[in-house]
Amino acid sequence: MYDLEDAITSRRSSRLFLRDKPVPQELIDEALELAVRAPSNSNIQPWQVVFASGSARDRLVEALLDEAESSAPKVPKLPEQFDHYRRDTGALVYGAMGIARHDTEGRRIAVLRNWEFFRAPLAGIVCMHRDLDFVDSLGVGMFLQTFLLALTARGLGSCVQVSIAGYPETVRAQLGIPEEMRVLCGLAIGYPDPDFPANGLHIPRNPLAENIRFVQD
Ligand SMILES: Cc1cc2nc3c(=O)[nH]c(=O)nc-3n(C[C@H](O)[C@H](O)[C@H](O)COP(=O)(O)O)c2cc1C
Repeated sequence: MYDLEDAITSRRSSRLFLRDKPVPQELIDEALELAVRAPSNSNIQPWQVVFASGSARDRLVEALLDEAESSAPKVPKLPEQFDHYRRDTGALVYGAMGIARHDTEGRRIAVLRNWEFFRAPLAGIVCMHRDLDFVDSLGVGMFLQTFLLALTARGLGSCVQVSIAGYPETVRAQLGIPEEMRVLCGLAIGYPDPDFPANGLHIPRNPLAENIRFVQD
C-alpha cells in the first residue's frame, strides 16, 4: 500500500509524457474507484469525465491544435492581483524547459503542447452539469485530487489543464459531450518522460500564514 503522504508530496504536474507507453486500463479503473469516494454536496457526485485514447485522442488533439493555431483559447483572464502567480509559475515552468523569458517562439511552442495533452496517451475531459453551482465544483475538485493521488500511487503522472477548456466547442464536437455539460478542464495522464527536466519541478507554495488564519477567544 502506497503511503498517503508520499502520494501527496510526490504528485506534481507533468508536462511531457512517454507517448508510446500505454496506460493500463486496470490502473485507471482502480484509481477511479478510489476517486469516487470523494465527498460532494448531497452526494450529487457532480463529476463527469470523458476519456479519449487511441485514434479518438489523436483526432481530438488534431482539432485542438488546429484551433489553437488560429484563435486564442477562451480561458478566463486572471484578476490583476493574482496575475503574478501566473507569471511566477510560467517563469519556473518555462525556465525548467530551458526557455528564456523573452523567447516568444519557444514559449508559443511549449504552450501549444497543452493541446497535445503534453503527448499523454490518455486524455481526460472533466465536466459538470451546467445547472450546478460553485459549491458543486468543490466536489469535482475533491474527486480530481483523489484521482490524481491514486494515479501517483500507481506510478502514473498527470496534469490538470484549464487550457483544454479554452476550446469547449471543439472538445464537445469531438467527444459528443452534450451542451448541458460544462467543460471544466482537461486531464493529461500517462508515464512522465523521465528525461524532461520540467517534470522534476517542485512548484513552491505560499507560507501557511498567507492563506490560513486561526481565530481564538
Ligand atoms: C484547475 C487547474 C488548471 C490547470 N491548468 C493548467 C494548464 O492549462 N496548463 C498547465 O501546464 N498546467 C495547468 N495546471 C497545473 C498548475 O500549473 C499546477 O498545479 C501548479 O502550478 C502547482 O504545481 P504542481 O501541480 O506541480 O504541484 C492546472 C492546475 C489546476 C488545478
